Amino acid sequence: MNQEEMKKAVAEAALDYVEAGTVIGIGTGTTANYFIDALAGIKHKIEGTVASSEASAERLRSHGIEVLDLNMVNEVSVYVDGADEATKHLHLIKGGGGALTREKIVAAASRKFVCIADESKLVDILGQFPLPIEVIPMARSYVARELVKLGGEPVLREGFITDNGNIILDVHGLQIMEPTKLEAQLNNIAGVVTNGIFAIRPADVLLLGTETGVKTLT
Ligand code: A5P
Repeated sequence: MNQEEMKKAVAEAALDYVEAGTVIGIGTGTTANYFIDALAGIKHKIEGTVASSEASAERLRSHGIEVLDLNMVNEVSVYVDGADEATKHLHLIKGGGGALTREKIVAAASRKFVCIADESKLVDILGQFPLPIEVIPMARSYVARELVKLGGEPVLREGFITDNGNIILDVHGLQIMEPTKLEAQLNNIAGVVTNGIFAIRPADVLLLGTETGVKTLT
């Protein structure tokens, strides 16, 4: 299997976690797109979806899948999304597509989080992938200086504005040894909306696409 086939295989495997008659949380990115396409085949079985980005909402609607406002929904049974890096402890880095804040909100509001990724995303220590941080524009320089104090090298994502109207700083050079601690610490910097470490609310299941098939890590 090549990388695209692995992404498709994990997306299809995630259909097993879809509960009939419930609302499904939908992630963002190329792997999540395969899940949206697969979900279209069983759209009549679910109540609707909550999307983590405008791009995913648009793709869902193009398949005739209902997209609901999270505020109008009592419970999201499962959230299915990709990742930029994942560990065997199911800690993640997300936000390569810039949708990290809405992704974190939908993940937090969901009973179960199923992460879908090809095996290239599995790492021993998070941080090789530059850590995305969503920042209120007026706080850009202050937050960048604080990140340098923590040993990171923040780089502004040029020409990119999030769905929430903010900027992204991609932080290079971090070796994230204590993901839950750093996640909380970064979120405490004034001006940070959220950061791309998903460890305080990690995935519950990681479906990993490998050359020999889909592996399930819990
Ligand atoms: C979007 O903001 C990210 O968190 C994505 O989940 C992540 O970048 C994975 O994307 P791919 O499935 O395209 O690799």
